[in-house]
Amino acid sequence: MSPIVEVDNICKSFGVAKVLQGVSFTVRKGSVVAIIGQSGSGKSTALRCIDRLETIDSGRIRVCGHELASPGLDLNQLRRDVGIVFQSYNLFPHLTAEENIMLAPRLVKRQSRSDAREKARHVLAQVGLSEKGPCYPSQLSGGQQQRVAIARSLAMEPQLMLFDEVTSALDPQLTGEVLRVMENLAAAGMTMILVTHEMAFARRVADEVIFMHQGRVWEHGPSSLLDNPATAELRDFIGNGL
Ligand SMILES: Nc1ncnc2c1ncn2[C@@H]1O[C@H](COP(=O)(O)OP(=O)(O)OP(=O)(O)O)[C@@H](O)[C@H]1O
Ligand SMILES: [Mg+2]
Repeated sequence: MSPIVEVDNICKSFGVAKVLQGVSFTVRKGSVVAIIGQSGSGKSTALRCIDRLETIDSGRIRVCGHELASPGLDLNQLRRDVGIVFQSYNLFPHLTAEENIMLAPRLVKRQSRSDAREKARHVLAQVGLSEKGPCYPSQLSGGQQQRVAIARSLAMEPQLMLFDEVTSALDPQLTGEVLRVMENLAAAGMTMILVTHEMAFARRVADEVIFMHQGRVWEHGPSSLLDNPATAELRDFIGNGL
């Protein structure tokens, strides 16, 4: 089976800063890949390139059958196929949880109000928030808001989910709620790439771990590499994280 994501030797600079220096990896359908590494190592930039929120200077990216450099790229279809969730939830404060979730299916997929509402209720249940549809973001905890943000992505029925440090702003208890939702998604077969500082979570849930250092894939392997780092850089990184 061909991979759902193929990142081939991509390079990206911002001005003189070479942020990605020949990054390559592939992601199999249904697998969970955790990207770890120090601040500034290029994790977010790599993730953003996969959703074409950033363009690359060289190399090649293929995602869910889309060739990202192709002049014929259907950006709308790419954005339907790939869901992305960030540390900040970015919910609209004047819309309820349910209305936030209904927005993209209504606008992008042209779903009827009743179909979009039914889908919203389904995905809210999936993230354990069946009761919270009528609530405004200000009435929800940070962890609940983040779960609404995840539900909003799921409502578009993506083939691939990208998570960029989605629990970094949350206290430990709320972090646990959000990680459980992600773990359930993984168990249900969702393909996921997640940038995370949660080493225990990565160890337990990820099929593969990518350690980035100075814009390069420094180590890549099964999550057991966290217990047996091959390089001093990964050893230092894990040591500092404890
Ligand atoms: N839009 C931008 N313009 C200029 N420089 C940028 C931009 N985005 C990222 N960078 C720089 O690229 C480098 C890598 O940033 P990136 O956000 O990918 O790192 P990261 O590994 O996600 O770090 P963190 O763990 O802090 O989130 C950093 O030095 C950052 O300052
Ligand atoms: Mg980042």
